[in-house]
Amino acid sequence: MKLKNAVFAALAAVCACGCVREDDNAIRMITEATFPPYEFLRGQEIVGIDVEICRAVAKTLGKEFKCETVDFDSVIPAVISRKADLAAAGITITEDRKKNVDFSDPYVRTGIVMIYKKSAPYAKAEDAKGKRVGVQGGTTSETYVLEQLGQEPERFRSPAEAVAGLKAGRVEFVLADIDPAKNCVKGEDDLAISDFVTSEEYAVAIRKGQPELLKAINDTIARVKADGSLAKWIAQYTEEADKLKEK
Ligand code: ARG
Repeated sequence: MKLKNAVFAALAAVCACGCVREDDNAIRMITEATFPPYEFLRGQEIVGIDVEICRAVAKTLGKEFKCETVDFDSVIPAVISRKADLAAAGITITEDRKKNVDFSDPYVRTGIVMIYKKSAPYAKAEDAKGKRVGVQGGTTSETYVLEQLGQEPERFRSPAEAVAGLKAGRVEFVLADIDPAKNCVKGEDDLAISDFVTSEEYAVAIRKGQPELLKAINDTIARVKADGSLAKWIAQYTEEADKLKEK
């Protein structure tokens, strides 16, 4: 009985701080939905490649599916604090993050690129040294500017806001993952993107110590790769996100 009381007390504490209750019947995905084609808003709805992957995981487990968006630097903390079960937000596997969460097998190989004005081209790291470089806060682009360029980045809440900052002259360059970068420069004739600056892989992140959930995710990723679903989602959501950009 003592144990039961302790459990109730802990649950009450969780609810008092406004957090979402764990739900045995649902898989709760957490993301940051300004990252087309992996996650973006179709009206009010969060859609994209990562959403399809997590929905497929929920299906594998025979559970309902829920998805929420927060700032990117709150995505990993949300699974650690049990507010969500799956973190999927074009999250790059890094040694640092591995200390705090477990990663699934990778589902995409990708990397970051520099977005620049054609009037002030970028070819190598030296071109951006000492210049104002915009990034989405909490991302591997931020780490690159801090550690490889050895300077403070200008932080924005999304790749698109960083690019708006570039157009407005607040920054001289923007560093972002290639797919949202391509979406951002679509239809912007004065902007271009560089070759890859890094090589990265995306995976789903979960709270440590859940081997069964990890296996369900890995099995699902293997299946959607093998049966062509992943390739179909990549094509479909790239097209939809590009169309939204044209509007
Ligand atoms: N891949 C980069 C990282 O893991 C950027 C991810 C940003 N994702 C997003 N949904 N905003 O740091």
